[in-house]
Amino acid sequence: MNDVLPGDIGRWQRVEQIYARTLHLSGFREVRTPHVESTPLFVRAIGETTDVVEKEMYSFEHHGDALTLRPEGTAGAARAYLEHGVQSREPVTRWWYAGPMFRAERPQRGRYRQFYQLGAEIFGDAGPGCDAEMIDMLVSLLGELRVPGVEVFVNSLGGGATRSLHREALVSYLSPRAASLSPTSQSRLQTNPLRILDSKDPRDQDVVKGAPSIHDFLDAGDREHFAKLREHLDALHTPYTVDARLVRGLDYYTRTLFEIKGAHEKLGAGSTLVGGGRYDSMIAGLGGPDVPAIGFAAGLERLLIASDLEVSEKVIDAVVAPVGPTAVGAALGLARDLRRFGIRCEVDTRGSSLKGQLRRANALGARMVLILGESELAEGVVQVKDLDAHLEERLARADAVRVVLDRLVAASRCVDSQVSS
Ligand code: HAM
Repeated sequence: MNDVLPGDIGRWQRVEQIYARTLHLSGFREVRTPHVESTPLFVRAIGETTDVVEKEMYSFEHHGDALTLRPEGTAGAARAYLEHGVQSREPVTRWWYAGPMFRAERPQRGRYRQFYQLGAEIFGDAGPGCDAEMIDMLVSLLGELRVPGVEVFVNSLGGGATRSLHREALVSYLSPRAASLSPTSQSRLQTNPLRILDSKDPRDQDVVKGAPSIHDFLDAGDREHFAKLREHLDALHTPYTVDARLVRGLDYYTRTLFEIKGAHEKLGAGSTLVGGGRYDSMIAGLGGPDVPAIGFAAGLERLLIASDLEVSEKVIDAVVAPVGPTAVGAALGLARDLRRFGIRCEVDTRGSSLKGQLRRANALGARMVLILGESELAEGVVQVKDLDAHLEERLARADAVRVVLDRLVAASRCVDSQVSS
């Protein structure tokens, strides 16, 4: 679990801002669900034999309740959707979320025990149009975040019947070859054979090369759905690769499944930036009506490693520098006026020397320094230094704020203009 210090927060906030804007442009609205949910919710939604449920959940008992720190956002979103009867008010629901998730995984670069996800879910649209729209939106998002080498992988897992037929065929194929599988896959053979397809162990990869493909078991409806998805992606000119072995670690997926990778040099080839897919049976499985759904989540830390986006490290626009103890009150008043106009500023009230205050202004990236000493107070003026333009002038106190604002806006430096730019 990591601390995010102020020196890094600028990039976090920039990515979150771009994410929220992208999702709002596609009609998604933010939802915030609790970080703790009942353990049975995750067991039912994610699947008893998944790694997440078997090994990675932070679960505890409290006053007789079995609770878990959420390992992902989909189960909680589905619970909230159901609990608030959202389906009776709107035919299609588009939600996004951002926040910490918790998994007791072995930590490594890009894999943490508390990590942040940027996710979204669409309830009430069976696709495949919105599936293609979602994938295309994600490719645009990663472009805006300047992630190099983006690659999209798609697959279809079909519906429930398809999956059980494929599972049977897989078990018949793998059972006689069990001795050649890794110990983990041997134990998965009965519980979750699909995950063996996903194994990175070379022993398993050798065996699964000839395994039956899910595509041989898709029914006509599944096949048509998948063909249409690819047609839409082609029409959008969104490049993708069909990966028939893509299965992913959560049990709830049906039909469309996708993963997006990128920035291999920085993250390593195996590291997924975004994972998602359809889970058309989850809402009914949780006791609700038949509502199709699709969603995705991106790991924020991974996006930050992958992204070439840079943000300004300038913390402040102006420093108000009182010289001598009598100027502090006037300096605080001047700073308050600057802030009213959206100018980020700081006042040194510790009685530091002017030299020391100029050094701090430089360290904080301030462009303007407004100096108030005894003579300035007596004359009703402010000495204004523009550190970038190397200009210095004495301005009437009444004009100082407006002049400083004009300078900063011209240089697009103050907070308000940064936000709107
Ligand atoms: P997931 O594949 O388990 O899917 O996670 C999605 C993304 O979260 C991963 O691709 C990765 O970027 C990030 N992630 C996962 N675990 C960690 C970790 N330990 N440390 C850092 N980043 C991590 C889901 O969670 C699904 N709920 C996605 C979804 C939404 N499917 C449908 N709707």
